[in-house]
Amino acid sequence: MQVFHHVASLREALAEARRDGKTIGFVPTMGNLHDAHIELVNLARKQCDVVVVSIFVNRLQFGLNEDWDTYPRTMQADMAKLRAANCDYLFHPDEAEIYPNGMDEQTKVICPAMTDVLCGASRPGHFEGVTTVVAKLFNIVQPKKAVFGIKDFQQLAVIRRMVEDLCIPVEIVAAPVHREDDGLAMSSRNGYLSEEERPRVAILNRSLNWVSDEIKSGRKDFAALEDEARAKIEQAGFKVDYFSICNSKDLQPAAHDDSEITILGAMYTSGARLIDNVSVSV
Ligand code: PAF
Repeated sequence: MQVFHHVASLREALAEARRDGKTIGFVPTMGNLHDAHIELVNLARKQCDVVVVSIFVNRLQFGLNEDWDTYPRTMQADMAKLRAANCDYLFHPDEAEIYPNGMDEQTKVICPAMTDVLCGASRPGHFEGVTTVVAKLFNIVQPKKAVFGIKDFQQLAVIRRMVEDLCIPVEIVAAPVHREDDGLAMSSRNGYLSEEERPRVAILNRSLNWVSDEIKSGRKDFAALEDEARAKIEQAGFKVDYFSICNSKDLQPAAHDDSEITILGAMYTSGARLIDNVSVSV
């Protein structure tokens, strides 16, 4: 695996791969890699000739009181995992390489409406930071395909919309949620969970599945279902950020005749905010 810190040298290497007729698959990450990230790399490997992974903890997508400074940086372990997964190129730029004019003066990519709800409502500016850095990374790498996890469903939907709206020639590939045995979705932030609360947090996934089963069996009283699910999570001792039954494409509240529905939930533990989702076709 070759490691690049600069846009120019990565572009040179990728231009050569393109000249050789190779297709490029891209997996953007913020590092602290776990099995779910490696699944994204494996998917890119299956579908493309050359795999590029980026590791960049993007300050632009963190709120002022969020965990940018304490976000786990585990470069040596990440590189070992990427080598084992057969990654070809790792792009690990510093902030000045990505934001040479500073973050305040950076041109931004804004995807309205979809980013005002769910995680966007409790993390103002977060998705603007995500779309801006992902658009830049797409321009740097110019991949044929880019792989994102379905666990961050809103992020995936927003990136799909950005690519469509800005005619970015990248195919977005969605990778299934990778889960622990009890259903907890794998996440870099699971490391913030205390031993005491770890066995209880699967309530989020259980509640999502319960709502999904109720919808499959014909229930359409979405507001009541959301309230019942919130109550289950609160009874387990967690504060709910949101629990919403949405249209899978635009993330607005689901209408009774919608056929593609995604149920999304976020809850606070003592040290982390966990998100998860389950989709259902009716
Ligand atoms: O999902 C992430 O890890 C980040 O939001 C991403 C897509 C790498 C952009 O910084």
